[in-house]
Amino acid sequence: HKNGLQVAIDGPASAGKSTVAKLVAKQFKYVYVDTGAMYRAITYKTIKSGTSLDNVEAISEIVKNSEISFQPGEADQRVFIDGEEITEAIRQEDVTNSVSAVAAIQSVREELSNDQQVIAADGGVVMDGRDIGTTVLPDAEVKIFLIASVEERAQRRYKENIEKGINTPLDELQLEIEARDYKDSHRKISPLTKADDAVEIDTTSLSIDEVVDKIASVITEKLNSN
Ligand code: CDP
Ligand code: CDP
Repeated sequence: HKNGLQVAIDGPASAGKSTVAKLVAKQFKYVYVDTGAMYRAITYKTIKSGTSLDNVEAISEIVKNSEISFQPGEADQRVFIDGEEITEAIRQEDVTNSVSAVAAIQSVREELSNDQQVIAADGGVVMDGRDIGTTVLPDAEVKIFLIASVEERAQRRYKENIEKGINTPLDELQLEIEARDYKDSHRKISPLTKADDAVEIDTTSLSIDEVVDKIASVITEKLNSN
């Protein structure tokens, strides 16, 4: 592709996708695209408009009539929907607990995957999500599937929450993660699965830097072989 490779990073909740994807993008001067934030943005707007999560028609209208955009921020990327900043709002528990239901709707997936394909068309992107290597970018040159034990993933979320002053008990977080993984893996349309040609990395006992280095060497190898 004109601007570089397409790098797809998929995996279950809190495996470290967005953390390492950002760092890998920085290292190769690629654009980082957080597709989970796009599903969260539509979920936020659905909840805010008082729309019921099973009102598929209304949610289809919402996704057709929404403009999601990203802007570089100081630490994290800033996220907007229709010009309203929702960077923090989309990480709230109400959105987290509803996002898998919204992400299972066909029209939502079609619309957002299409946007993601447009963004990635020229390459030079690191895109993280659940179905990037399988559905959105099936020809991506680099596909990574990140996993970690559910206990470790709950611990990671717990630590993040403590830093934000949120005190959800660890066992509750683990249940939330398991419920979301189950829904994401069992939905009809593009469920969370490892692409056959993806490199699987178990991050349970790896540091962030170790994971970044592993992915960077897969990319470098690909670049050198082209
Ligand atoms: O960061 P975290 O693991 O909490 O999740 P996320 O990447 O922000 O994604 C939130 C939710 O969006 C996931 O649980 C999926 O239901 C959905 N999603 C999806 O269906 N397909 C994607 N490519 C990305 C996210
Ligand atoms: O995007 P995803 O939900 O897969 O995970 P994340 O939002 O990047 O969160 C992972 C959390 O685990 C972050 O707080 C990271 O600092 C931490 N972590 C990691 O990402 N990778 C490791 N190898 C170890 C810890």
